[in-house]
Amino acid sequence: MRTQIGIVGAGPAGLLLSHLLHLEGIESVVLESRSRQEIEATIRAGVLEQGTVDVLAQTGLGERMKREGLVHGGIYLRFAGRSHRIPMSELANGRAITVYAQHEVIRDLVKARLNAGGALLFGVKEVGIEDLETRAPRIRYRGEDDAPRELLCDFVAGCDGFHGVSRSAIPSRRRKEYIRKYPFGWLGILADAPPSTDELIYAYHERGFSLVSTRSPQVQRLYLQCDPGDRIESWSDSRIWEELHTRLATRDGWRLTEGRVFQKGIVAMRSFVLEPMQYGALFLAGDAAHIVPPTGAKGLNLAVADVRLLARAFAEFYTSSRCEALERYSEMALKRVWRAEHFSWWMTSVLHRFPDATPFQHRLQLSELEYVTESRAKAATLAENYVGLPFE
Ligand code: FAD
Ligand code: DHB
Repeated sequence: MRTQIGIVGAGPAGLLLSHLLHLEGIESVVLESRSRQEIEATIRAGVLEQGTVDVLAQTGLGERMKREGLVHGGIYLRFAGRSHRIPMSELANGRAITVYAQHEVIRDLVKARLNAGGALLFGVKEVGIEDLETRAPRIRYRGEDDAPRELLCDFVAGCDGFHGVSRSAIPSRRRKEYIRKYPFGWLGILADAPPSTDELIYAYHERGFSLVSTRSPQVQRLYLQCDPGDRIESWSDSRIWEELHTRLATRDGWRLTEGRVFQKGIVAMRSFVLEPMQYGALFLAGDAAHIVPPTGAKGLNLAVADVRLLARAFAEFYTSSRCEALERYSEMALKRVWRAEHFSWWMTSVLHRFPDATPFQHRLQLSELEYVTESRAKAATLAENYVGLPFE
């Protein structure tokens, strides 16, 4: 088989890239190791930046998102028993976030690609990327039927997430990796419960971080900081609710609404950046090239920003044979990536309880949180990063 762009991974990065390329008249094939059912059921992100919402809406993917997504113009920071609203839209030129689950974005993208006759191959195995230094790179894989296959292409887009194979196709001497692990994880749940709040609550407490988010008027999404080595079995539903009630308690008697927990899981937290995001004919995008801890809600949004740049660079190449935009892709993408890395690290550091934290550090965190709620300049910094810096 032959195509122009061979895409590894059908996450938000791979699927949106394929969609944007299609709109530019460029052919692609997406190879995904999991099934369509699995990718459409994986629970992850929820917060879409203004720029992400705009890209999806402008490229014909906005219909359900506009109907079902929840637009929020602010967030609450909660600490020392009090909630403080950060009026993000007011501080960031009217920009807002939309809460719309990642698996809904995936469903919209898969549907759009299949309706347009796009080639999405699910359940592929043993993906290997070869001849990246040549003008004829190839992707070897086994199809769903186990038969060995080969995809010949002009370029390969590595969109296979943090645990994928494309990053390691770059020789180690050409890779510079920056990594930071955090000594905690997030336990996330979905619960059949009406909202406890009109906007997201990010809470810092001596027992650790917690977050109240939403999915619909019937479903709440909640997270709490836990030990990264914890097994989910050691967190009964009653223990989760008790911990959330303690960490979210306010002096004015605010109540968290409870309901049946129908999904729960634990994720590790790390920061990671690979430089450069390109080698020969291989271009990496999304979590394959960088990871942020989820506190700033940036991962999916960065994946969207990457593939927007990459699709434009491929379009320039195919219309004018010019390589400048492709050559600048990594540098351009990394500028936004490092901003998001810093913001996500800052949000994480200020809102979590570090196991080795001294009382001094605890007081510094409280002081920083107070400052955000009292200084318009500091709140504006949070707001413009959280709603997302405008695309260039
Ligand atoms: P992925 O979504 O990981 O997709 C990669 C795909 O490649 C997968 O489908 C995988 O099966 C496939 N694959 C892997 N290996 C291979 C292989 N060898 N061959 C073929 N296919 C392969 N981000 C936000 O912006 N906002 C949020 O609110 C937010 N909240 C989050 C909350 C949690 C709890 C978590 C865990 C993450 C959150 N994120 C958030 C981050 C976001 O989910 C990720 O950044 C996003 O999924 C990255 O998309 P991607 O396409 O790069 O990678
Ligand atoms: C959600 C996830 C995040 O990482 C975040 O910072 C806010 C909300 C969510 O899943 O709703």
